[in-house]
Amino acid sequence: MPQIWPIGGGKGGTGKSFVTGSLGILLAREGYQTLLIDLDLGAANLHTTIGAPNPEKSLSDFVNKKVAALDETIIPTPTPNLFMISGAMNNLDIANLAHEQKTKILREIAKLPYNYILLDLGAGTSFNTIDFFMISNSGIFITTPEPTATENIYRLIRAVYFRKIRQVLNVYHFRALAKEAEERNSKATVTNPDLLLDMIKELDPEKGGMLEQELNTLEFGLLMNQHRKQDNPDIGRFICQIIEKHLALKIQFLGNIAFDENVHLAVCKKRPFLEMSPYSRTAIDFRECFKKLLIMKDKSFGIRHAVDRVL
Ligand SMILES: Nc1ncnc2c1ncn2[C@@H]1O[C@H](COP(=O)(O)OP(=O)(O)OP(=O)(O)O)[C@@H](O)[C@H]1O
Ligand SMILES: [Mg+2]
Repeated sequence: MPQIWPIGGGKGGTGKSFVTGSLGILLAREGYQTLLIDLDLGAANLHTTIGAPNPEKSLSDFVNKKVAALDETIIPTPTPNLFMISGAMNNLDIANLAHEQKTKILREIAKLPYNYILLDLGAGTSFNTIDFFMISNSGIFITTPEPTATENIYRLIRAVYFRKIRQVLNVYHFRALAKEAEERNSKATVTNPDLLLDMIKELDPEKGGMLEQELNTLEFGLLMNQHRKQDNPDIGRFICQIIEKHLALKIQFLGNIAFDENVHLAVCKKRPFLEMSPYSRTAIDFRECFKKLLIMKDKSFGIRHAVDRVL
């Protein structure tokens, strides 16, 4: 079973594709078979961040039934162990995928034989984006220090978290219990997870414990990209604290990634930034965040990675 990391941001241009590509390269360099999937449907450009040529095959071929299986759309990249599925670039229909098509894609993704699968998601809190977050318990959220981006990332994390709670409530047939909790206290709803959980635990300690356990398996991380020297280095940590306070959701701050003019240059030259500027502050930041990510995932999956080799 692959580890699947959906990567999203509340706002366009925060660096989701850049981060997805860079983390993919770091995983591949560690020897992991890694697949990147561009699910920014209708605005796909992940390939440029990893120096891959314009893809000849894409997700559209699967959606439009040109190929029978999703793995037929996989293409190699210039980095050994790193593969990708390009998103649709010219197909407007794909941005409005039907539910069955999405479910089919999700089912196929989970079966692919890779160690890691990273999903580059579209900006915002659209149904498509949130649906793709439902495929795993992980989620990496990208923001910049600008208030417009931080406000949107809060909204996105909240939307994903509430949908996860609804999903768990459905799976375990907790609906009746949740309804009863709300009847007793009208504030005990999904949008007030702490209270809802307390009420369910009171009504049925065993099922309440199961629900709590299930929610504790969520592993969300926040990454602050395009961080400039004049920015407060603790904004990311503050956002995590606010989320914990208001949503009772623990989210790990993965660190700041410095802004670097050369990222633009690397994108223009279609070369991976980590190859072009391996000793830059930004590249060092990436390796530090990557190390934190592996430690976080190690804890949840009980797998020992060779973390010390990374730095
Ligand atoms: N750390 C950084 N330093 C400097 N520039 C950056 C950094 N990260 C990203 N950028 C720049 O920001 C732009 C947007 O990055 P990217 O395309 O990865 O964002 P995105 O969130 O995927 O955008 P979209 O929502 O359009 O898919 C790129 O042109 C890239 O050059
Ligand atoms: Mg993008």
